[in-house]
Amino acid sequence: MYIAIINLHGLVRKEDIEMGRDADTGGQTRYVVDLVKELSKREDVEVDLFTRLIKDVRYDAGYSKSIEKLGEHARIVRLNCGGTKYLRKELLWPYLDEYVDNLISFFRTQKKGPDIIHAHYADAGYVATEVATYFQTPLVFTGHSLGRNKLEYLRSQQVSEEKLDQYYHIHTRIKQEERTMRHANLVITSTHYEKDTLYAPYASREAEKMKVIPPGLDLETFFPYYHYEIQDPSITEEMKHAQYTMVRELQRFLTNMDKPFILALCRPDARKNIDLLIEIYGKSKDLQAIANLVIVAGIRDDISSMEEGERQVLTDMLLLMDRYDLYGKMAIPKHHNPGRDVPEIYRLAAMKRGVFVSTAALENFGLTFIEASAVGLPFIGTDKGGVKDIFENCESGVLVDIADHQAIGDTIYELLTDTQKWQQLSHNGVERIRQVYNWETHVDTYLEQLGAIKTMKQDLPALAKRMANIEHLVVCDIDNTLTGDMQAARKLADVLKTNQAHLGFAIATGRSLDSAHEILSQYPFPHPDILITAVGSEVHYGTDDVPDKGWSNYIRRRWKREAIKQALHDIPALVLQTEEGTQRTYKISYTITDPANIQTIMEQVKQALGNHTGMHHLILSHDTYLDILPYRAGKGDAIQYLAWKWGLEVGNIVTCGDSGNDRDMFAKPFKSVIVANHEPALDALKRTKNRFFATKPASEGVLEGLIHFKAVKP
Ligand code: GLC
Ligand code: MG
Repeated sequence: MYIAIINLHGLVRKEDIEMGRDADTGGQTRYVVDLVKELSKREDVEVDLFTRLIKDVRYDAGYSKSIEKLGEHARIVRLNCGGTKYLRKELLWPYLDEYVDNLISFFRTQKKGPDIIHAHYADAGYVATEVATYFQTPLVFTGHSLGRNKLEYLRSQQVSEEKLDQYYHIHTRIKQEERTMRHANLVITSTHYEKDTLYAPYASREAEKMKVIPPGLDLETFFPYYHYEIQDPSITEEMKHAQYTMVRELQRFLTNMDKPFILALCRPDARKNIDLLIEIYGKSKDLQAIANLVIVAGIRDDISSMEEGERQVLTDMLLLMDRYDLYGKMAIPKHHNPGRDVPEIYRLAAMKRGVFVSTAALENFGLTFIEASAVGLPFIGTDKGGVKDIFENCESGVLVDIADHQAIGDTIYELLTDTQKWQQLSHNGVERIRQVYNWETHVDTYLEQLGAIKTMKQDLPALAKRMANIEHLVVCDIDNTLTGDMQAARKLADVLKTNQAHLGFAIATGRSLDSAHEILSQYPFPHPDILITAVGSEVHYGTDDVPDKGWSNYIRRRWKREAIKQALHDIPALVLQTEEGTQRTYKISYTITDPANIQTIMEQVKQALGNHTGMHHLILSHDTYLDILPYRAGKGDAIQYLAWKWGLEVGNIVTCGDSGNDRDMFAKPFKSVIVANHEPALDALKRTKNRFFATKPASEGVLEGLIHFKAVKP
């Protein structure tokens, strides 16, 4: 199973994740990298973690490496998207289509598409939905955090509507979350709270698609505190040094280091409610008598130079410490190394029979609670949100109503004084975290779930079977490629029929579906397996003409039909075609009244469209027909899409045509036959590899080409 995991924003690398360097590099990044590392140990999977390539003097050069090996079966793959400067996640939206295109061509060049695509966060959700539609790949989505919830929070903070849109792009985010959830086959959350509450306001939420899989923790790092006491030989000098440094740092604040700690550890974020904990401790002489308060809230050098929100939180902390005169009893260390020191801080607190306390009113997940429990440090935290899952799974702490300040104080006091209870909770944490929150279990469940959705691939089993069995697929234009010589057409039709078992037959025409059927009915060809019509903007299958909705969905991007028509309205040499079926949802077609001046006309067209913001694909045939399609559409692109969708080897596809609207099929890695009666402009393709210029016209030329490429025997 080849799994493509997409995590676009933040700083993604194998080692030393820069946790908290900014708001975009944190728990999500850590989770995704750890997940991929664990997956890479499995024999039967291959994983690529796709992220953005960053080449920016302010950031490590490692982020500019296209490929970084993550393990035996895993890599980080970095692709371009919106230049190479580091961009905060809210700014990536306009560039995501570039990422989509780069990702598709990455899969093409390595000649392998993913079996599963798993997107993390709304931005990757957008990319993944596009790519999954293209390759018909099952899609998995993990939101991590959700726009609707954030919107509610930002509104409660009186953030202006303008800022919500222009700074946070919150409505785009929500819209894309809805869309990704609609397309997803599986939505993974870490907790029941997320599944049942956070996702609840989404219209596209479907409970049957959702699965709670608690994440794993690096249990080697978060080993129990008592390993120090029993002198575990695997404890490294670095760990001991980290602990020693922490002790030294705390000694600068605390008069009596022997007392247990009430430990709080979190980002300096107003939502974490640190001031409440200081107040509870500051007002309680009992708590002050038996314990120290240790608050580890990020890293700081100079508070005055910090970002506004963090500065506020830290300033309030210092003011409260002063107001309650907590000198000698309260420690607020300035520095720590998040990766190395955090487990040591928890262990230090546990060794002193302390407690971990969080007074945040709501935690979506509660990673710190899991970390504390893992080393054997009991917790006290909110009875709302993700912590409830942790409590139910592990019974390694006590839940309180954060609005009840008295209860928080009492619970802290109780845990610090009731040794038996403390021992029980500590022991539960060490034991149960290892059962529930380990990576092995996580990945087992994860792979089981992926296996279940991997099989839901096609709804056209007959065609799928046929496509799997053919050796070659011949894709023919109709007018002047198949038509023109009835005798030759009969000959070719016979060959197609005799070789039907191993030779697939497809059409790629500028005509509409109806018009294609109409002309084909006058010829003896077998019914095509696939019909690509309207110059590659529409795809239909089999005798029932089942439309390919995935293709329309994919090409739709940035298509502004009316704006294009408007822009070209005043060019006199362009006349909209009027025959039935020539104007399509994704195709605008003109007749050029003055082919002698084609150069000038095309200049005018390009200029007129230059002012127009959408993107498009211009196709000129015989200097007489001008078709305009979405930039992703074209005969060649449609064939490439089909090749992926049905698992066809591109080198075994033979494309045949005669005119400008076939050119796109010749520019791709297929084998191509250009019949002798082709329009002169195609002569420029001569002497390019895999292009065969037949000596005979129309059907006879096609046959000559099929023999040349050994798709049929002479
Ligand atoms: C077919 C279509 C027409 C298109 C032309 C060139 O004739 O009917 O709309 O412009 O092909 O692609
Ligand atoms: Mg033609």
